[in-house]
Amino acid sequence: MKKNFLSLVLSLFALIMQAQDINLPQPAKTGGKPFFETINERRSERTFIKREMPLQTLSNLLWVANGFNRPDKRTAPTGSNKQEMELYVVFDTGIYFYDAKQHLLKFVAAGDFKAGLGQPNISNEAAVSIVMVADLNKSSIESARMSSGYISQNIYLFAASERLGTVARGSFKKDELAKALLLNEHQSVTLVQPVGYLK
Ligand SMILES: Cc1cc2nc3c(=O)[nH]c(=O)nc-3n(C[C@H](O)[C@H](O)[C@H](O)COP(=O)(O)O)c2cc1C
Repeated sequence: MKKNFLSLVLSLFALIMQAQDINLPQPAKTGGKPFFETINERRSERTFIKREMPLQTLSNLLWVANGFNRPDKRTAPTGSNKQEMELYVVFDTGIYFYDAKQHLLKFVAAGDFKAGLGQPNISNEAAVSIVMVADLNKSSIESARMSSGYISQNIYLFAASERLGTVARGSFKKDELAKALLLNEHQSVTLVQPVGYLK
């Protein structure tokens, strides 16, 4: 009885923790593997081992992917600097929006949304999956897909530099993800990219 009560309190605590925004530490803007070694190691990986990603690594990853590296411009280019792309982060227990300007994660929804991320040929054990979302009020879907490619390559290079695994995932379930991410009719998911630990 006592044990049941304790586990109820703990799960409630976990739920409350989940439902809050997460402040990210400042991203490291120096270091990493030398560029030529990094590009030589860029590849797709589909098998991950279960391990939580430290907040500092997540902070670095999101900044590299699509953070601000100048007051009004980002690490990934966009046509006419439209900045139509935003990132969402899917964890095992919920989804957060990456607010790049403030460099923090804003809580979106609690739950397991991994079924919408793509085909089962890729392991579900990634520490996080990044979902790229275009605002089609800012650009065309063609431009947004190109912009997603730059973000994807930033993630690939980060993973290669940090000995992490990643793969671009075009096989996501568009409507399922749009619903989970609470997107409006002008927003569209363009690409999914898990990042996880290798054996
Ligand atoms: C736009 C795009 C979508 C992709 N979608 C998937 C996917 O849904 N599933 C998958 O296993 N790999 C996917 N890939 C990864 C490719 O299969 C992979 O890049 C290709 O086989 C070359 O391997 P490499 O990345 O190791 O060089 C995708 C890659 C790109 C660029």
